[in-house]
Amino acid sequence: MRVLSGIQPTGNLHLGNYLGAIRNWVRMQDEMDSGSQCFFFLADMHSITVHEGREQRIRNVRDMAAALVAAGIDPDRSVLFNQARVPAHAELCWLLNGTARIGWLNRMTQFKDKVGKDREGASIGLFVYPVLQAADILAYNATHVPVGEDQKQHLELARDIATKFNTDFGVELFTLPDPIIPKESARIMSLRDGTAKMSKSDPSDMSRINLTDEDDAIMQKVKKAKTDPEPLPDNAAGLAGRPEANNLVGIYATLAGTTADAICAEFAGKGFGAFKPALGEVLVETLRPIRSRFMELRTDDAALDAILEKGAAKAAAAAEPTLRAAYDAMGLMR
Ligand code: TYM
Repeated sequence: MRVLSGIQPTGNLHLGNYLGAIRNWVRMQDEMDSGSQCFFFLADMHSITVHEGREQRIRNVRDMAAALVAAGIDPDRSVLFNQARVPAHAELCWLLNGTARIGWLNRMTQFKDKVGKDREGASIGLFVYPVLQAADILAYNATHVPVGEDQKQHLELARDIATKFNTDFGVELFTLPDPIIPKESARIMSLRDGTAKMSKSDPSDMSRINLTDEDDAIMQKVKKAKTDPEPLPDNAAGLAGRPEANNLVGIYATLAGTTADAICAEFAGKGFGAFKPALGEVLVETLRPIRSRFMELRTDDAALDAILEKGAAKAAAAAEPTLRAAYDAMGLMR
């Protein structure tokens, strides 16, 4: 079993990332047996699709590394690194550009969402983004890829690219990866709009809970979260057509390790005036230890850089045989 996943180091780690992906990373790391390996990385090569100044990008990578360690990724047990330190990602991406089809990329909903009406003005990097993601996964022959729901289509593309490459060159080189998507929290929604996913790129900071938010800020954001005037129903089916209520109950249930039905039963007939402070409390208690570890780790740039360098050396060694075999399969002599 080879577990692998990545996160873009742009902005803060937020509750959507944490409940949709990172918590699963930590769980898989903690439950891993001796024959398995976990690779977690900061997708800084993907982050060039968002314009950022040099200093800010350097800070972002260290911030995200600290956030992952604070959230429970242990660099002694998992290989933690940033993509830019491992050239195999960019190299394999280029090789796979010969395999991936424009028609496949045209169907990527995340690309369509991100470019909106300005397709002509979008960078080539944004279009090819999913091919780099396929390279990230295939370079390590990852078997399990823990992600949120929004990455499902990119995982399917990685499988398509792997299959076509193997067929075209008559090899059994790439393993088909399986997405691991949580049942309860695969799609955490914005606090301002229950139909939009919680995201780093939302201009309103009130739309998301950051893992670095102070207790007061968390309480404020929950208090101001959009809701409806109805009381809570006595079971989860009653949340249908109420996206904001559904999202908040889902977050509560995930954090409390229970079901939406159980939370509804507890708050049946009560309004959000009673529910929100309870949700805020659970959030504050969950995030406080992560935030305090983050603050501590963030004071030592050199230690964070050392973690990433050490991880990159291990990652490069793990990717090398597959990369070499891909060049060889294509008749490219290195
Ligand atoms: P990114 O940086 O957008 O998000 C990191 C992880 O968080 C999940 N996620 C969410 N889950 C639930 N609800 C939300 N509102 C929410 N927002 C984000 C994402 O699904 C993801 O798992 N393309 C990837 C990074 C990447 C990658 C990879 C992932 C690059 N190469 C290879 C896996 C394998 C991305 O931009 O994730």
